[in-house]
Amino acid sequence: MYGGGNTFEKLQGTDLQNEDPQKLAEFEARIQRGEKIEPADWMPALYRKQLVRMIEQHGHSEIIGALPEGTWITRAPGFKRKLSLMAKVQDEVGHAQLLYAAAETLGKPREQMIDDLINGKSKYSNIFNYPAFTWADACTISWLVDAGAIVNQLANSRGSYGPYCRALERICAEESFHLKYGHHAVIHLATGTPKQREMMQAALNRWWGPLMHFFGPPDKMSVHSETLMRWKVKMASNDDMRQQFLDMYVPKIWELGLTIPDPLLRKNEETGKWDYTEPDWEEFKRVINGDGPLNKERLAVRRTAEERGKWVRDAMKKVAAKEYVTPLA
Ligand code: COA
Repeated sequence: MYGGGNTFEKLQGTDLQNEDPQKLAEFEARIQRGEKIEPADWMPALYRKQLVRMIEQHGHSEIIGALPEGTWITRAPGFKRKLSLMAKVQDEVGHAQLLYAAAETLGKPREQMIDDLINGKSKYSNIFNYPAFTWADACTISWLVDAGAIVNQLANSRGSYGPYCRALERICAEESFHLKYGHHAVIHLATGTPKQREMMQAALNRWWGPLMHFFGPPDKMSVHSETLMRWKVKMASNDDMRQQFLDMYVPKIWELGLTIPDPLLRKNEETGKWDYTEPDWEEFKRVINGDGPLNKERLAVRRTAEERGKWVRDAMKKVAAKEYVTPLA
């Protein structure tokens, strides 16, 4: 149960035409004034639905995102790197918890979100469907994928929905440590032996396309941006976020003597923007719709974790319902 007293199911499929025009105008005025919307406040069903979609997908991305790096914990070079990577992966799972909790304030139960993930009904970020073949792949994720995530999350933490913004603020604080850890690991490889440099360059070549996809389709192809930006859920468009990422990280990548695998990439002095080769948007569509290199494996791991953890969740529910009595009680 939440603000309007409706259930999530009842709100599916409703749109703005069903809203009270006066309430809608007041809501929009609040957004314009920069006020935060809280769970018990009135909100249009479409705002609620869009937020659930976006926050839920974000939560799934964190939890699936822990998988490619997670496989490197035991193989990370040296104890220090293992320790840092373990802490990072644990943070990412914690981010999923924060995000699921924020989405729950909008009325969708967590069990339903997890079901939608493992049944392929709900999306998660394209980028975690690619394999981390080498240690350099894991380092690229830690540095550049987290960098992309920070660009997105920092912007959206200034958005309109209170619980999401507060979750994002905390996530950004932790992500900034991940970024430093990832950058350090990449510097180590990029300034290391010829073999290490080669491994780092090969990883960058593999991840550049998925990284360009990460910010979403070009603005002209984006379905939700207009609504989300009108209601200040999304504070920058997909293309703007991509440009911001290029502005901040291309110089840092070049500084390390690495080559970005895009011969057209350059800062256009006239427009002040980066020119680049459009990544393969057909590949993006395939990957986000379940047909990427590792989609099936990622979901299978999640499904197994869900099945194996069921007895713990069941026991906890019974404890909460006081169905178990300890022998000493
Ligand atoms: N990976 C997977 N799916 C993506 C995607 C990506 N990188 N970018 C866009 N999509 C999907 C959208 O979810 C949407 O699908 P849907 O209608 O089935 O939900 C579709 O492509 C059209 O994209 P668009 O209209 O541009 O979606 P959007 O306005 O929601 O913008 C994001 C996409 C990722 C920028 C936005 O949802 C967002 O900022 N999400 C929160 C941050 C996040 O999830 N980060 C993930 C990794 S940490």
